[in-house]
Amino acid sequence: MTNNSEKIKLNAAIKNRWSPRRFTDKPVTDEMLHLLFEAARWAPSSRNEQPWQYYVAKKQDESDFYLLIECLTEENKVWAQSAHVLMVSVMKKNFDYKNRPNGKALNDVGAANNSLAIQATELGLQVHQMGGFDKEKAIELLQLEKENYEPVTMIAVGFPADEKSFSEEDKKRLQQHKTRKEQKEFVFQIEFSNQK
Ligand SMILES: Cc1cc2nc3c(=O)[nH]c(=O)nc-3n(C[C@H](O)[C@H](O)[C@H](O)COP(=O)(O)O)c2cc1C
Repeated sequence: MTNNSEKIKLNAAIKNRWSPRRFTDKPVTDEMLHLLFEAARWAPSSRNEQPWQYYVAKKQDESDFYLLIECLTEENKVWAQSAHVLMVSVMKKNFDYKNRPNGKALNDVGAANNSLAIQATELGLQVHQMGGFDKEKAIELLQLEKENYEPVTMIAVGFPADEKSFSEEDKKRLQQHKTRKEQKEFVFQIEFSNQK
């Protein structure tokens, strides 16, 4: 789609959100965390089921934090330790109503996670989601009822390190973030009526 107006522009938090691999020591306050979960809370979901859960460990609670770190892949373990908070987003697989499978639960947890990420950016924080973790280990650690609950992503939260302190790898990461498909690659104008 083309933007014909000079006045409208992309929301700043959407534009500035990214997934850093290096965080500062600055603490994430409980008030900030509360706002992140408020953002998740207001996300849309199929039948308003709100099938998301968040299991949270702060770095100051060392043993819990490092038990979560142990669930990550070796690559993620290295950088995620610099986060101030780690969490696991979990989806409830069945609707409350008649306990039927909720085919949109994954979509809805994704929506909640994205709201949370945008709110984080708004606060000067960043989050970095990870699919690279051992699901079975997380299920066991969190004592999830496997039939109805499934970990979706692990999420590192913190204040991103200053770009001046970036290693070559960090710079590569930021560059990767900026690599985006053009809209023409994923937006398709439907023109059925013209084909008659
Ligand atoms: C579901 C999901 C899983 C991801 N898994 C990982 C991961 O295991 N390790 C990692 O470093 N980044 C992971 N990422 C981050 C993506 O690589 C990142 O979002 C993508 O490269 C776009 O960059 P940006 O978030 O900075 O815009 C994941 C992101 C999502 C949404």
